[in-house]
Amino acid sequence: MKGAHRVHRVVCPGSFDPATNGHLDIIGRAAGIYDEVIVAVLINVTKKSLFTVDERVEMLREVTARYGNVKIDRFHGLLVDFCATNGVSAVIKGLRAVSDFEYEMQMAQMNYRMAKVETLFMTTNPLYSYLSSSLVKEIARYGGDVSGLVPDTVLSRLRERLAEE
Ligand code: PNS
Repeated sequence: MKGAHRVHRVVCPGSFDPATNGHLDIIGRAAGIYDEVIVAVLINVTKKSLFTVDERVEMLREVTARYGNVKIDRFHGLLVDFCATNGVSAVIKGLRAVSDFEYEMQMAQMNYRMAKVETLFMTTNPLYSYLSSSLVKEIARYGGDVSGLVPDTVLSRLRERLAEE
């Protein structure tokens, strides 16, 4: 097929501070569809994070260890540059609610305009449609229960980190 565009490798970018079961759901489903999924953690020096990039990468490695075709990496700068360097032609994103749509659409169109990088949206499992890393951090910080929302290894590191504060 002339001009056909086969997607074998996708990138799943984010802050993952920390990874939630919502992230894992998307990563696992993407791993079932594509040959290779690169989870790329954004190195953002201007944004205050609870976990370092190394810690986030390590946690992601642990919780995705069961998938042979998922690789964890990190990037700074533009996502489209990471895609070019790594031979990735499509980004995969989870869409939780309409509220996600506007900003995601804007980034998707901008990434396509800049480098013809496609964005593929996967609807979040409704179990996790209200879930976000920032809510998890806030609830955990004030003593709320976030078990079932994050993987067990993330839960124990979250408790440890917040106890240090
Ligand atoms: O988990 P997040 O913080 O919602 O992820 C946002 C992320 C990392 C996907 C987005 O901020 C991003 O792609 N940043 C890289 C910088 C970039 O390419 N900006 C231009 C986007 S059009």
